[in-house]
Amino acid sequence: MFITKVFILIIIASITNINNTSALKLECTYREPDLHWEAFSRDYTCEGTIRLDGDDENIRTVTNTHREQMRNADVRGLMIVQQRDLQKFPKGLERHFHHLIGIDFEDCGLTKISSDDLMPFKELLQINLSGNRLTELPNDLFQFNPKLKKIDLSGNLIMHVGLEIFNNLQHLTMINMHDNACTSDNAYATKKEELKELVWELSVECPPTLDMLSSSLFGSKEFIDNIKRISGEDSDDVRNELLNEIQGLEKIVQELKRRL
Ligand SMILES: *[C@@H]1O[C@H](CO)[C@@H](O)[C@H](O)[C@H]1NC(C)=O
Repeated sequence: MFITKVFILIIIASITNINNTSALKLECTYREPDLHWEAFSRDYTCEGTIRLDGDDENIRTVTNTHREQMRNADVRGLMIVQQRDLQKFPKGLERHFHHLIGIDFEDCGLTKISSDDLMPFKELLQINLSGNRLTELPNDLFQFNPKLKKIDLSGNLIMHVGLEIFNNLQHLTMINMHDNACTSDNAYATKKEELKELVWELSVECPPTLDMLSSSLFGSKEFIDNIKRISGEDSDDVRNELLNEIQGLEKIVQELKRRL
């Protein structure tokens, strides 16, 4: 009798506890998976589900029943699959997993992704965002992930891609953009030549919106530095740089006209 009462108390306590903490919780099964991605096929990975609870978008807790001798710091891969209600890239992952080299959010209903989301993952080698609901890829999306090798964005609703989105990625070996609103069936590249062609195809078929263009031009560090310098001093250098900037703009306008 006493034991039943204690049990009931524990259950009530845990229910109230859940209701009081408004935060995301990542429930992981840890394994060294035999994944399609050979690069992290033997890397310690969290295959997880994110429990949505309240308005807080931060992941506060992560399952830490690890395999023997492993810790959060050993986790290299994160796989969230078919969690269609997720919609937003969760914040705070990096506080638990510092060294992710592979991130998979497959069929998770993500509608947006930005460079801020990927900023903490400087070592990232591969990302799979297949089967989400992304419509645009901003120009600076991968600016903090220069080591990326493989990018799978197939099966989204992508219509617009920043013109220089892959420019800083020197190690690319695969891009999959198959099955998007703006791409053809064979928008998949693994060889150097194919990658070049795909980047060209994207620039023609998935042009950036004017908003994307202006934010990459006027938001660029160079442009802002120039404005700062102009307001402080007036030199020929600044004028010349601004002229260059304007010529660059004119080229983009011509390019846009050509495509219309
Ligand atoms: C990315 O995820 C999709 C959907 O689960 C899967 O079919 C695809 O093989 C994955 N991409 C790679 C390169 O492993």
